[in-house]
Amino acid sequence: MTMTIKSATWSNEPDLAFDMKRKAEEACKIYGDDQVINSVLGTLADDEGRIIAFPSVYKALDELSKGEIASYAPIEGDREYLDKLIDILFDDYKPDAYIRAVSSPGGTGAIRSALWSYVDKGDPVLCHNYCWGVYKTMCQEFCRDFRTYEFFNEDFSFNIDDLAARLDEALSDRDRTAIIINSPANNPTGYSLSDREWDLVIDLLKDRARDKDKKLTLLVDVAYLEYAGDGKSQREFFTKFTNLPENIMVVVCFSMSKAYTAYGMRCGAAVGISSSQKAIEDFENSFTHTARANWSNVNHAPQKILVKLSQGQDLEAYKKDLEEAKDLLTKRAEVFIREARQNNIRTIPYFGGFFAFIPTDRAFEISDKLEKDHIFVLPQSKGLRIALCRTPARLIPDLVQGIKKYL
Ligand SMILES: Cc1ncc(COP(=O)(O)O)c(C=O)c1O
Repeated sequence: MTMTIKSATWSNEPDLAFDMKRKAEEACKIYGDDQVINSVLGTLADDEGRIIAFPSVYKALDELSKGEIASYAPIEGDREYLDKLIDILFDDYKPDAYIRAVSSPGGTGAIRSALWSYVDKGDPVLCHNYCWGVYKTMCQEFCRDFRTYEFFNEDFSFNIDDLAARLDEALSDRDRTAIIINSPANNPTGYSLSDREWDLVIDLLKDRARDKDKKLTLLVDVAYLEYAGDGKSQREFFTKFTNLPENIMVVVCFSMSKAYTAYGMRCGAAVGISSSQKAIEDFENSFTHTARANWSNVNHAPQKILVKLSQGQDLEAYKKDLEEAKDLLTKRAEVFIREARQNNIRTIPYFGGFFAFIPTDRAFEISDKLEKDHIFVLPQSKGLRIALCRTPARLIPDLVQGIKKYL
């Protein structure tokens, strides 16, 4: 007998990434850490496999009073936190528009609320076909119609034509649609849209928004923003959200998980951008209502930490931690790209972030074989995701050799 209502009844399939992680850990116990390559989960680890927790962040946590940690934060978020995160997010590239932020439990909460507030039951949600699987899970939960468009052309540039075709299809029978773009440093590919590619996206949306009956929402997931450039360059595209038509809403989904190595603290924010004052007030009211109805308010401690790390010596210490993490990723990525090239393995252009990607339509078969060699990567329908964030540079040549054997 099923007691759960129909729309809340799901089969309990294990999460593939966590399942692979479990298998890799079991292999470590049996064969020893040195005999196993565990390139699965998306948390930063040092070369000894220990999770990286930025000293600046956890020093700031230690310095909080018990009262600061224990207390409720305001439903929409601490005012100082929201103001600072807008400054940090946009830096010199703040769009000239109405902008408001509402706190959320991680980037997940922000994405969830955007899908809840801007598309209705049955409305299409368009996402690139190499993507973080949870977007689809959320659409299923809320009965949104998750659809994909081809992310790439043959040469691995952004496929604007397919997005245009899928958008026209979506708008032919619905008045609302949301478009998800996870850039820079996309999960699972490491791809970032260039400024020129962003122009194409915005021109397309502006063109389709000439029909004032249509309401378009651009959901920009920037979970890996800090790992995608020199700090400035990866933010330039934000200025393009200036002067958009009133029937285009932009929601940038901000997360502290990767940028502050604060995955478990569950803190982020949705940042609304609109050229309409009414639309931005609606954004704030809607997201605050959702917060009250779902999680009440977001963990207070990380909000205080972000504010503390935004100035003076604390900021310097945080920048140093971030630079070290970026250097570690860059070194691993360099080794991966070099080895892949030397072995004639095609990869998707890597611009930053936690993952690199080898396209193949035999990913599941290859990953099964790799497991027998004690190599664990995440198979996806479009290929193999390599978690550079937790694979020491010294093991990457063996990882690439292992993959080459079965490709
Ligand atoms: C692409 C992408 N977006 C968003 C998130 C959300 O992370 P969090 O909810 O921890 O901020 C993740 C986490 O893995 C991710 O990979």
